[in-house]
Amino acid sequence: MQVFGLLGNPVGHSLSPPMHEAAYDHLGLEARYVTFEPAPDDLERAIDGAAALGVSGCNVTIPFKRDVLAFVEPDPLAQRIGAVNTVDFGESPPTGHNTDAVGAVRALGRHDVTLERASAVVVGAGGAGRAIAFGLADAGATVTICNRTASKAETLAEAVPGATGGGLGRLPVALSSADLLVNATSVGMEADQSPVPPEALHADLTVMDAVYTPLETRLLRDAAKRGATTVDGAWMLLYQGVAALERWTGESAPVEAMNEALRQGLSSPVAGSGE
Ligand code: ATR
Repeated sequence: MQVFGLLGNPVGHSLSPPMHEAAYDHLGLEARYVTFEPAPDDLERAIDGAAALGVSGCNVTIPFKRDVLAFVEPDPLAQRIGAVNTVDFGESPPTGHNTDAVGAVRALGRHDVTLERASAVVVGAGGAGRAIAFGLADAGATVTICNRTASKAETLAEAVPGATGGGLGRLPVALSSADLLVNATSVGMEADQSPVPPEALHADLTVMDAVYTPLETRLLRDAAKRGATTVDGAWMLLYQGVAALERWTGESAPVEAMNEALRQGLSSPVAGSGE
């Protein structure tokens, strides 16, 4: 029996267990995916303990994504992003990876979005924004990062190849010639709000939201009204899980089975927080 898990605090009603276990069932793997909620200052012991107990792999979420870098061997992308969301205990020391970046890219690929030479706007410069900005730039897009705190976007843009950064005030101009917009802020989760003025959206845009509770955010509703193509946040959640599973098992992930389990989980009344 293999054990995989999620390290976070709080992990809440995570959707990762049903999503990953649907894949194990489909692949005939004897495995379980469990959530762990170590105290914030117990992360190192949690990683050491998981390694000692033979846990095969862990996803990592808030508040540990940055801190875990100190306790694993991060790969170059996780190092550049400055965050790890996937730990592979198959080696010693365990290795750290970031599948949020490739998750965003694969979610867009699933919707036939071409990133090579695309003009992309990322709203948000926190953990999610960092991963998405690197993912899109590495896939060939020219990225503009807009953030409430402009200095954070500027600092991030210095690290992301070819990117520029600034405050939210830049959104209308940046979006006027953009092919793609990704919301990587938490706006839209707690209240029915959008970080983007609706009049800045247009029919030539694809708009993806990293927020998945609710699935239909204010931003995506505004975008659909303006004729834009919309990609909800469950796609990113799905593909970061797909990439983690493929790394851990070496198998090709049963994407449709995972998607079905995830969407079923999201439609239940206690649908998730965490990953
Ligand atoms: P995550 O790891 O999920 O990205 P985070 O690192 O806390 O979380 O980042 C949250 C992001 O949402 C940040 O870009 C934050 O902007 P600031 O850097 O200015 O704090 C953005 N954000 C949160 N609340 C916001 C709001 N009400 N309006 C605009 N941006 C907001």
